[in-house]
Amino acid sequence: MKTVYYTATSLDGFIATEDDRIDWLFPLGDVADTGSADFIAQVGALAMGASTYAWMLAHAATIERDFGSPWPYTQPTWVFTHRPLPLAAPGARIHFVQGDVRPVHAAMAQAAGQRQGWVVGGGDLAGQFFDAGLLDEAILQVGSVTLGRGKPLFPRRCTQPAWRLLAVRRIGEGFAELHYTLPRPGSGAGTASDA
Ligand SMILES: NC(=O)c1ccc[n+]([C@@H]2O[C@H](COP(=O)([O-])OP(=O)(O)OC[C@H]3O[C@@H](n4cnc5c(N)ncnc54)[C@H](OP(=O)(O)O)[C@@H]3O)[C@@H](O)[C@H]2O)c1
Repeated sequence: MKTVYYTATSLDGFIATEDDRIDWLFPLGDVADTGSADFIAQVGALAMGASTYAWMLAHAATIERDFGSPWPYTQPTWVFTHRPLPLAAPGARIHFVQGDVRPVHAAMAQAAGQRQGWVVGGGDLAGQFFDAGLLDEAILQVGSVTLGRGKPLFPRRCTQPAWRLLAVRRIGEGFAELHYTLPRPGSGAGTASDA
């Protein structure tokens, strides 16, 4: 299963403010222009951390207004958490898990079949998949704003080998979408990967 970290980020590398707000994203463009619906159609399994899931619980009414359900995904989703969290909607295909990402990735791959895995966020969870050699690509919609501080895009040091840029796409004035293929950690001399 190809596993992709697909997210929007500020120019200075934050995916949310320190108090988990992403309202700065919405004025930057229309989600319909980002291609996210096409991406999600290719996804067979999702993984996300507890803060990302908690954001969806907190915004269930808005999500229901926009998608017709407080839980917008039909694909199975694995939520990483150490605490009990409520199910977002009756019948939502959500698995609550903790610890090592490797067995979760295996379960995601089995569920996804020919489709790809989506690591929704946050950045450290994407880093855990990367550390395990299980993150293949990153698709980043870089918004034309800076936050100064917040929840990090990818709290790892990846220098050698660098990520390889596959494609760049302009989305209006608000976003540049960068599509990368990722090296395996330790696959090149001088690779540094620290949290
Ligand atoms: N800009 C965007 O497009 C975008 C995309 C995705 C997310 N976001 C936002 O970005 C923020 C991300 O928050 P975040 O950086 O705190 O990351 P997060 O991954 O959403 O949440 C981190 C939490 O997940 C749990 N967790 C992570 N790995 C785990 C593991 N291996 N085992 C068990 N639990 C684990 C822990 O929660 P506990 O131990 O407390 O249970 C940890 O504190 C959210 O506000 C989200 O809404 C933005």
